Amino acid sequence: MKNLFASLPALLLLAGGAQAAAEKAAPQQKWESVKLGGGGGFVPGIVFHPKTAGVAYARTDIGGLYRLNPADDSWTAVTDAIADNAGWHNWGVDALAVDPTDDGKVFAAFGLYTNDWDPTNGQIGRSADRGETWEFADLPFKVGGNMPGRGMGERLAVDPANPKILYFGARSGNGLWKSTDGGATFAKVDSFKAVGTYAPVPGDTTGLNSDIQGLTFVTFDTTSPKADGGATSRIFVGTADNKTASLYVTEDAGATWAAIKGQPKKFFPHKGKLSAAEKALYISYADGSGPYDGTDGAVYRYDIERGAFTDITPSIGEKIAFGFGGLALDAQKPGTVVVSSLNSWYPDQHIFRSTDSGKTWSRLWEWANYPEMNLRYKQNVDKAPWIGPGFLDNDTKHLGWMIECLEIDPHDSDHWLYGTGLTLYGGHDLTKWDANSWDEKLTISALADGIEETSVQDVASIPGGTELLAATGDVSGFTFKSAETLGEAPKKNWYDPHWTTNAGVDFAGAAGKNVVRIGNSAGSKQLALSSDGGDTWAEHPGADTKAAGGIVAMSADGETIVWSASPGGVLRSQGGKEAFKAVFSLPEGAIVASDKQNATVFYGASGGKFYVSTDAGVTFKVAAGELKGAKNMVDVAAHPVKAGDVWVSTDAGVFHSTNYGATFAATSTALKNTQQVALGVGSAKDSWNVYAFGEGAAGARLYGSADGGKTWVDIQGDKQGFGTTSTGKLAGSGNVAGLVYVGTNGRGVFRATVSLGGEKPGARRLSRRARA
Ligand SMILES: *[C@@H]1O[C@H](CO)[C@@H](O)[C@H](O)[C@H]1NC(C)=O
Ligand SMILES: *[C@@H]1O[C@H](CO)[C@@H](O)[C@H](O)[C@H]1NC(C)=O
Ligand SMILES: *[C@@H]1O[C@H](CO)[C@@H](O)[C@H](O)[C@H]1NC(C)=O
Repeated sequence: MKNLFASLPALLLLAGGAQAAAEKAAPQQKWESVKLGGGGGFVPGIVFHPKTAGVAYARTDIGGLYRLNPADDSWTAVTDAIADNAGWHNWGVDALAVDPTDDGKVFAAFGLYTNDWDPTNGQIGRSADRGETWEFADLPFKVGGNMPGRGMGERLAVDPANPKILYFGARSGNGLWKSTDGGATFAKVDSFKAVGTYAPVPGDTTGLNSDIQGLTFVTFDTTSPKADGGATSRIFVGTADNKTASLYVTEDAGATWAAIKGQPKKFFPHKGKLSAAEKALYISYADGSGPYDGTDGAVYRYDIERGAFTDITPSIGEKIAFGFGGLALDAQKPGTVVVSSLNSWYPDQHIFRSTDSGKTWSRLWEWANYPEMNLRYKQNVDKAPWIGPGFLDNDTKHLGWMIECLEIDPHDSDHWLYGTGLTLYGGHDLTKWDANSWDEKLTISALADGIEETSVQDVASIPGGTELLAATGDVSGFTFKSAETLGEAPKKNWYDPHWTTNAGVDFAGAAGKNVVRIGNSAGSKQLALSSDGGDTWAEHPGADTKAAGGIVAMSADGETIVWSASPGGVLRSQGGKEAFKAVFSLPEGAIVASDKQNATVFYGASGGKFYVSTDAGVTFKVAAGELKGAKNMVDVAAHPVKAGDVWVSTDAGVFHSTNYGATFAATSTALKNTQQVALGVGSAKDSWNVYAFGEGAAGARLYGSADGGKTWVDIQGDKQGFGTTSTGKLAGSGNVAGLVYVGTNGRGVFRATVSLGGEKPGARRLSRRARA
């Protein structure tokens, strides 16, 4: 526990009274990621600094921005401090730029959605210390970091001739925006009339696919003369428009704009990159705006001086069924270009390389004797071993999907990186490709260490058993056997059965090797059991194929499962095999939980009502206990080791019953509108901490209590955001004192060892025997 050692010297220096005072003053907890090591989500953009070696950033769609640590290929998250409950949408990053004249400066367009899923307008963030601290320019419109088209770009760029000037290409018809004060303020460029009219599904009533995609990239031509004020005179702008024109240029630093003559009109330009030495703009095109689509496309080179476009689309000897997304130029070797398909779903993505400005291309793989393939690469997923069994071993797609960004380090022709829907790949021997031999293989490695961008659906920790079970979106879920393994990328994810997204997980409180998990996509059985603490799994034979998602609860002895499925209603099965039957006495969508020690007891909650079942979930009755003033039940947490002890989170705060809901006591009213609530081992002998997201003295954030909810201490601190409190998933460790887990919607699982008073954090560890 790094945390323990870090806090020891400070604790030792303080005498008794001073120590107590210091603890009341809400210590700043050190939060760190539980390590998956492989991203676990889409990386739509990567930007290297053009002048300073080793400076690079990767943006994600729901998990924020990351800075490269070149010494070990790892990444450091730089947007956690600005993604608290109010700033949650700052984990959506739609565009990224560096200042070519100052390697300390980085800029990003923050915001998640342009529809009502994100209620607030976007911002352009600017940092002068590589992302450690941020300032913001508020935009009068929204930014769509998790919207279709998010891999096109970069939509944000800093003028290399005058870094006070930035341009941002907006979505939603908002056009082109410009800053002349280094990003402090932005104003609309009225002379730029195009808006990028394409919307993938104009009739989409959610607003997600019906919003127009807008501008796709802004690229400064560093070879053009300087205009007044030292600005670059020639600037290219791409738009999502396949009807009129999609490439625009100004020759007078933005005073006037025109569609470039002779441009291809069929597809959407995803990337437009300047090769200064060749005085050329390279453009990748696809017939969709990404990241999931693309059935046709092209690659073009525009020779700026001749004003001529050349179709340099790579050939595979037959009509292509994909577009082009990622496009990289080797700054050290003008004319060397790498492009990737968007999307080639079978058998794999295509990546092509040219060393003659696109005249000829070579492929990363080709068919040999079908279905055998010649590969110019081998793959290494040591940094995220679970990618092997979870994905590569069972899929022909080894290179990834959704490749919208692909970059060659401007300072190192061998170093390249590309983003996929799963992880970030890359390597350090790209020029091996040029030996032009199928025997000379480059190594493509998963290089997303430090990028943690899973959408976590549920977390659980078993007293005396598995330390952490994390159900995730897109990459199934993960089991961490002990606290010692939390910093090691898992060897496997949950499979057999493998569901893309696991919605929930629970365990038998008195028979803790028994675990249940649920998937969220109806169409196959979506409930699986483990009898070895979540190491191996088997599909529950009694699940039907219509039920999915929701909340699952397993009785203390592991014999009964109550599943509030969505879709599917409330269901129950006994004995591990029996077909699930409807439970009529709980409303559809109810919260369900099991008593962790009394196998006949389940809890339910819905609206303003709290329910108890004393017949192992066959029937539920409204509990006698009153939760005074509570109109809306939000979460239920049964005490891990005490029968009948249950905590209920509501709009009026957290309530506690020690008698199966016969009576409830309110906890301190200083914490209101609570969200998830959880219990974890406390520092004093036999004590349990209570954790809850809610609105307390320090605002809407995470609080902990060592005194049963009489007092709530801010354990989140000012430096760590978890996104909205309503999406935070919470578990206290069943084994390590003060260890608490937060699952986020986009930044994976965080952990910290918190001190709430009493003994030193981490000091008490329950022995397995004591639990049995
Ligand atoms: C523009 O692209 C969309 C999506 O590929 C396609 O449905 C539409 O027919 C295209 N329009 C034109 C004019 O090519
Ligand atoms: C991979 O295939 C094997 C054999 O069919 C299967 O048992 C396993 O579940 C698969 N893994 C995944 C992640 O689907
Ligand atoms: C478990 O719950 C049942 C039903 O409420 C009750 O009769 C029984 O006494 C409880 N057992 C224990 C050990 O508390």
